[in-house]
Amino acid sequence: MSWDGPAAEWWRGEVSGDAAYGRDVDPLLFELLDGIGASRTLDLGCGDGRLLDGHAFAGVDRSLDLVGVATQRGRAVVADVGRLPFATGAWDAAYAVLVLEHIADPAPLFAEAARVVAPGGSLAVVVNHPVYTAPGSGPFVDPVDGEVLWRWGAYLERGASTEPAGDGSIVFHHRPLGDLLTMAASAGWQLERLLERSLDPGDDALLAAQTHLPRLLGARWSR
Ligand SMILES: C[S@@+](CC[C@H](N)C(=O)[O-])C[C@H]1O[C@@H](n2cnc3c(N)ncnc32)[C@H](O)[C@@H]1O
Repeated sequence: MSWDGPAAEWWRGEVSGDAAYGRDVDPLLFELLDGIGASRTLDLGCGDGRLLDGHAFAGVDRSLDLVGVATQRGRAVVADVGRLPFATGAWDAAYAVLVLEHIADPAPLFAEAARVVAPGGSLAVVVNHPVYTAPGSGPFVDPVDGEVLWRWGAYLERGASTEPAGDGSIVFHHRPLGDLLTMAASAGWQLERLLERSLDPGDDALLAAQTHLPRLLGARWSR
């Protein structure tokens, strides 16, 4: 699936600058990266490079359009995260923010990160929490008393859904949490931290009723 053309325009115009990143997504990443310097840190799936300023030394992304923007913020190259154009052990750390859920098979990302990150280095990821991405899952309001309840959906099944993105669309892949952890372990990554977070509801009443539910998952591994 392409993040060029309409999807890139949508990402840049409507999503990338959303306050939710500063409130929820980025603080989780920074918590995971605590103690890791940015000097040899690689942003996997860097998009328009919004995190390149000071947080990563370089980024890679498959989207030509988004890398074109990212290069105005830092060093970025067009590449697939499953086939990185870097030497073995070239980096001290890597991270991927909201990328894995757009990849049908993230195993090559874990394997390539393990190749390009030197021994003793780290990998951090932030993803939409799998309980939230299961097809058919979501909050619903009890019509009797207005209580916000949770519909589980097909959590244990792997699946994909196509969502509108401006004039284009993007694909979200769902996989149970165990898939993610097993893939990382198979690539030689040792889990250090697993963090689960709800979203800051701001003035959104539906979100305010969901602060007991995990929306974001962050993990940090070492090798
Ligand atoms: C939701 S955006 C997140 C962008 C960025 N990490 C951020 O937080 O602003 C997902 C990004 O992953 C990139 N991406 C998806 N699959 C990829 C792949 N196989 N290789 C490289 N980049 C990929 C897309 O091009 C897109 O820029």
